[in-house]
Amino acid sequence: MVGLPSDPRRLNHHATITFNMTSKEMKIMREMTTENIKASFAGESQAHVKYQIFASQAEKAGYPNIARLYKAIAYAELVHASHHFRTLGTIGDINENLQTAIGGETFEVDEMYPAYRAVAEEQDEKAALRGINYALAAEKIHAALYEETAEIVKAGSDRGDDPIHICPVCGFTHIGDPPANCPICGMASSEFKIY
Ligand SMILES: [Fe+2]
Ligand SMILES: [Fe+2]
Repeated sequence: MVGLPSDPRRLNHHATITFNMTSKEMKIMREMTTENIKASFAGESQAHVKYQIFASQAEKAGYPNIARLYKAIAYAELVHASHHFRTLGTIGDINENLQTAIGGETFEVDEMYPAYRAVAEEQDEKAALRGINYALAAEKIHAALYEETAEIVKAGSDRGDDPIHICPVCGFTHIGDPPANCPICGMASSEFKIY
């Protein structure tokens, strides 16, 4: 529950005053709601991830039932985030979603992380730089995998069933037999998570 209106009566109030509004005012109202739902999607998405991370911490600290509570509520936040995402009309067919995924990864690789890296270098933020460099290297692979996948779908098939390996330290992603060590961070591939 992050970013949602704290007082539900506000929604009712908006619904009431919408009745006699001009079309221009209606448009403003719709844009406001769109922005609110975007903010809600972002907040719920972050809560989902945050609770999964807290679940791992609770598990390591010896609180399996608190971990379970975090995992359960993380799922509830995913339900909320999914609802907001659907409301925003951003889910397409298999081709459209792959193009959206390619666009997101490519933006991170070409614009976002290089700019963030330049700032982190300038400010000598070593921990931030490590995270940025891990992500940047892995996102390049993600963009390439989605592009390859879009071509496979255009040719009329699903991907093959080769195992997909993920490095738990840096997010390196590899389909098929992995190298002995992660080429980004050096972690042994025996630690990789397999999908
Ligand atoms: Fe990615
Ligand atoms: Fe790695």
